[in-house]
Amino acid sequence: MQLPSALRQAIDQELTGIALADLADVSAELSRRYRAETRDGRLHINDEIAARAYLTTRMPATYAAISTCLTAIVAAQPDFHPRGILDVGAGPGTATWAASAIWDSLATARMIEASPAIRTVGERLSRALPLDRVDWRTQRVGDGLPGMTAADLVVLAYVLDELDPPARAPLIMRLWELTAQALIVVEPGTTEGWKRVLAVRDQLIGAGAHILAPCPHATACPLSAPDWCHFSARIARSRLHREAKGGSVPWEDEKFIYLAVSRHPSAQRVSRILAPPQVSKAAVMLKLCDSDGILVERTIARRDGVAFKAARKLGWGDTAPGLPPSTAQEH
Ligand SMILES: C[S@@+](CC[C@H](N)C(=O)[O-])C[C@H]1O[C@@H](n2cnc3c(N)ncnc32)[C@H](O)[C@@H]1O
Repeated sequence: MQLPSALRQAIDQELTGIALADLADVSAELSRRYRAETRDGRLHINDEIAARAYLTTRMPATYAAISTCLTAIVAAQPDFHPRGILDVGAGPGTATWAASAIWDSLATARMIEASPAIRTVGERLSRALPLDRVDWRTQRVGDGLPGMTAADLVVLAYVLDELDPPARAPLIMRLWELTAQALIVVEPGTTEGWKRVLAVRDQLIGAGAHILAPCPHATACPLSAPDWCHFSARIARSRLHREAKGGSVPWEDEKFIYLAVSRHPSAQRVSRILAPPQVSKAAVMLKLCDSDGILVERTIARRDGVAFKAARKLGWGDTAPGLPPSTAQEH
C-alpha cells in the first residue's frame, strides 16, 4: 500500500529542511514511548519536531492499518456511503485521509485532537483533502465531547492506549452516541491492544451494536492467551522513513487490531482468516474464526479445484466465504 500522492506531497512539504539526525532521535523516543505505552500525563506528540517525526515514521503505518479496517467495513456493508467523519484523537488526520481515499461520498470531517503541535501540522495537511469542510478542534476527549453532533462514521484510531483506563469506557459510550452509522476502534496489534478491543467489543455488544469486522459473530472470542487476534498491513517506506527508522527494507508491516460496528447488521456470513495462510503445492491451510464463533483450521486440497485456486489468493485478515465443508476441526 502507498499513501495517496496528495498526502505524500503535503508530508514532503512539512519535512523540507528538517535534519535527519533530529528526526531519528525524536522518532526513536516516540517509538519507545509507544512501545512502553507510557502514560505519564504528557502527550507523546508535544512539539513540532515530534509531530514531524510522527508524519515520517508512524503515519504511513497507521494509515495502512486504518485503510485495511475501513476496507473491511466496505466488504461488510457495501451500501454504506458516509458523508461525514468524526476523527477522534485525529493526530495528523490519518483516518480522515484513509476514509476519503475509500469513499467518494465523504464531504465533511470533524477532527478532535488534544495536541496543538500535531493539530497544526494536521490542519496544514488537510488543506489537500478533497472534502467540502474540515473542522479541527483542540480538545481533550475526557471532557465528554459536549455539543458534538453525530457523524456517519466515527473513528478512534491508536488512541485508547494513551488514555487512562477509567476514561476508556465512558469515551466509547459517548462515541457510540455520536455514531449515526458506523464506529471503528483501531489499536496496536499487541496482546494489550487486543484486550482493550475485547473490552470495547463487550461494551458495544451490550449497547446493541452490530459487529461488522473482524469478528464474524457476536459470541465470545474463541482465542485465548498466549494467542491473540491481530492483523498486518504492509506500507511502502519512503527514503526518509527508512533513514529515520534505520530500516533496510523498503516496506513496513504494521500489526494492528480493530473493531468495526454498525447501527445495522451486516448481511454477510463469512469466516475471518486469523493468520497468514500456509500454502503448499498440495493444499492451503487456513486458521479461521467462523460465523458461530468457533476457531477452525481448514485444509483446502488441490483436488478441491476452484476452491483451491480461490483459497490461494486469500490473505491474513481476509474473509473466506463459501469454502467447501471438509476437514474442519474444532479447537
Ligand atoms: C498515536 S496518535 C494516533 C493519531 C491518528 N489517529 C493515527 O492513527 O495516526 C494518538 C493521538 O491521540 C491524541 N490524544 C491522546 N490523548 C488524547 C485526549 N485525551 N484527547 C484528544 N486527543 C488525544 C494524541 O495527541 C495523538 O495525536
